[in-house]
Amino acid sequence: MTIGFQMNDPQAVIEADRAHVWHHLIQHKPFETTDPRIIVEGKGLKVWDITGKEHIDAVSGGVWTVNVGYGRERIADAVRDQILKMNFFGGVLGTIPGARFAEALIDKMPGMSRVYYANSGSEANEKAFKMIRQIAHKRYGGRKHKILYRDRDYHGTTIGALSAGGQQERNALYGPFAPGFVEVPHCLEYRRHEQPGLENLTGEAYGVAAARKIEEVILREGPDTVGGLCLEPVTAGGGVIPPPPGYWETVQEICRRYDVLLHIDEVVCGVGRTGTWFGYQNYGVQPDIVTMAKGVASGYAAISCCVTTEAVFEMFKDDASDPMNYFRDISTFGGCTAGPAAALENMAIVEEEGLLENTQEMGARVIENLTRLAEKHSVIGDVRGTGLFCGAELVTDRETKDPVPEAMCAKVVADCMAQGVIIGATNRSVPGKNNTLCLSPPLIATADDIDAITDAIDGALGRVFA
Ligand SMILES: Cc1ncc(COP(=O)(O)O)c(C=O)c1O
Repeated sequence: MTIGFQMNDPQAVIEADRAHVWHHLIQHKPFETTDPRIIVEGKGLKVWDITGKEHIDAVSGGVWTVNVGYGRERIADAVRDQILKMNFFGGVLGTIPGARFAEALIDKMPGMSRVYYANSGSEANEKAFKMIRQIAHKRYGGRKHKILYRDRDYHGTTIGALSAGGQQERNALYGPFAPGFVEVPHCLEYRRHEQPGLENLTGEAYGVAAARKIEEVILREGPDTVGGLCLEPVTAGGGVIPPPPGYWETVQEICRRYDVLLHIDEVVCGVGRTGTWFGYQNYGVQPDIVTMAKGVASGYAAISCCVTTEAVFEMFKDDASDPMNYFRDISTFGGCTAGPAAALENMAIVEEEGLLENTQEMGARVIENLTRLAEKHSVIGDVRGTGLFCGAELVTDRETKDPVPEAMCAKVVADCMAQGVIIGATNRSVPGKNNTLCLSPPLIATADDIDAITDAIDGALGRVFA
């Protein structure tokens, strides 16, 4: 029995983990002969594992979450004070941090109005899908129920969210999925040669044409059947894909023309990651629904939000005589006050420390450094990103753009890890295209941090592709 082990007995922790923890996203066979890695402490953008090894975290907790960095006392204090006073009440009632954070959030989102609390990105997206479905039933006899999603985008891990999942390898073996979800093409200009009709277009011409592909799907399906379009502002796990110029303007126009609700999934980009409060704010677009999770409280508490316009909200309250005319949905832990209490402090930190500006500056430095690396390493086929959310796509040949095998990307990640720098790479997502290295350090990163991260990649590429 290992209960009560002390942190001065690291082997006991490792054995407890090996024996009983089912880790996310990983094949466990290797843990029979190598130790699972246990992370024990973080400060700023550094983390330490149980062996005492120090790492620079260039992926904000592995999955783009710890935006304000580790060890923030003021967030811990705010959460402690709040949960001692009132830790939870079901969301039928309000709470002080719930009300205050909703007000602060809406202040950063002109045009938006209402905040629905939940606790994971997948769940927030499910709320949005349910809203779109309920509106279809209320206004269109259930007909306008289809939800469009994009090739290479990801919206979460539940069966509903996977039904809107554009990453075939993530979805494989988990079907059948929910009906009424329809895919539209991706907008990765670098791979336009694989998109019939778009091969010869670049820049804005490509962006507009890629968006018009969405219109083609709406027309094929019948505009009277399509209720919503769900897009990431910058595709994350599908390969770090910022939208081409002209794309979002055209998407907005198409949504308005066909009365399709625009749902933007800001689970990764929300609260600063791209150097603006929300990714969509880089492109002047006005969504109907915005979902967010990871950076909202930087992982200090579990919180997600599904934010709507007043017009969407109004459709759930306009007829109080109809007993079914409200959003008949709940998220038990959406009533935890730790989430909004942490989120308020998190937002104050981003503001007071000028982290949006830092993200823009440091993001530009990542792109500059990676572009310089591309001059030296021909394996880098494309460098792209927005703010502190950047990717380098690795190819065997710049002419054919054939992707390097996923295993080679994994070797680069492992080499960086051995150097004490944690980077990410797309994995098991898009068949044959899991070839993008991903960088998303905390928004507090300095120029020295960025240079240390890209130096590690330089060394790794030199060794892996020697
Ligand atoms: C764009 C996007 N949406 C939704 C999710 C799902 O979030 P969660 O894992 O909190 O359910 C993710 C997770 O990586 C994501 O990247």
